[in-house]
Amino acid sequence: MTQPDIEVHDTAFVTCCYRASDETLSGDPYSKHWITEKAEEWVRTYTREVCPHEPFVHCLRNRFFLEQISAFFKEKPNGVLVNVGSGLSMYPYLLPSTHRYCDADLSEIVFLKRKKLQVWGREGKMPSRNISYIAVDFDDEVSRLHFEEQISIWLKGQASFILIEGVIFFLKEASVTSLFDLFSRLQRTGDRLGSVSFVPEIQQTAVYTRFLDYYERHLSQSRDKYTKIDNSFYEQLPGYNLLQHKDHCELSRRYVPERVLSNPKEILNEHMYILERT
Ligand SMILES: C[S@@+](CC[C@H](N)C(=O)[O-])C[C@H]1O[C@@H](n2cnc3c(N)ncnc32)[C@H](O)[C@@H]1O
Repeated sequence: MTQPDIEVHDTAFVTCCYRASDETLSGDPYSKHWITEKAEEWVRTYTREVCPHEPFVHCLRNRFFLEQISAFFKEKPNGVLVNVGSGLSMYPYLLPSTHRYCDADLSEIVFLKRKKLQVWGREGKMPSRNISYIAVDFDDEVSRLHFEEQISIWLKGQASFILIEGVIFFLKEASVTSLFDLFSRLQRTGDRLGSVSFVPEIQQTAVYTRFLDYYERHLSQSRDKYTKIDNSFYEQLPGYNLLQHKDHCELSRRYVPERVLSNPKEILNEHMYILERT
């Protein structure tokens, strides 16, 4: 059996490889800086053994949220972005420099991200952005409480877009519930919440079984660990109105009509939700 060779924070590098595979579609010319040989190797095996469409759907997802956050900032010129489980995503660099940004993730990611971006900034590889970093383990209650204290102060009562993208799946269900509670305490009327998750029905697909096989081999996680969320959770989320609900198939129709993904059962079909705080 293959030795586990991926840790959960390494998935952030893999996502960057995906986004860099089509910069025009993803809208992200910076993700390529995070590509490592190891991540490229995972992409090669993953696209072969699980699903060849993963780079494409991650480009679609990045493009969608980029447009949503951009529209929010146009509406709320004083708005800020809080990226929960930010990984190495580069939204602040794709959006105006006038806003404040907060990236929260495991310490392995945020310390590395801050350090590298400082260096690249000095080298002129990156424009300058006002980004704060918070190291947090969202599966740990004490760490979540610290995060709440820090982010409450950081928000300074400004309008916020909170994004939780590609993360829910890795968290315990109870942590996800606590996080959405926290979001509703932090946000005010008119604020936005963007979220990505799988619906439980994905468990019946062959591609999901291949995905579990792959993660069991490489990430050493138990097969029933991963959190999935029903659409009804978002439809009935206290304190929020669901404004938009899309899946990868729909995003492919919107952004790349010549490459429509028509069968949701053939891909790891994520669902994207945009909610507004009431
Ligand atoms: C697939 S990456 C997605 C990153 C980013 N949101 C994106 O779309 O590029 C998953 C991210 O979740 C983070 N993550 C997983 N479990 C976490 C936890 N318990 N607390 C904080 N972050 C976590 C990982 O470190 C990683 O950066």
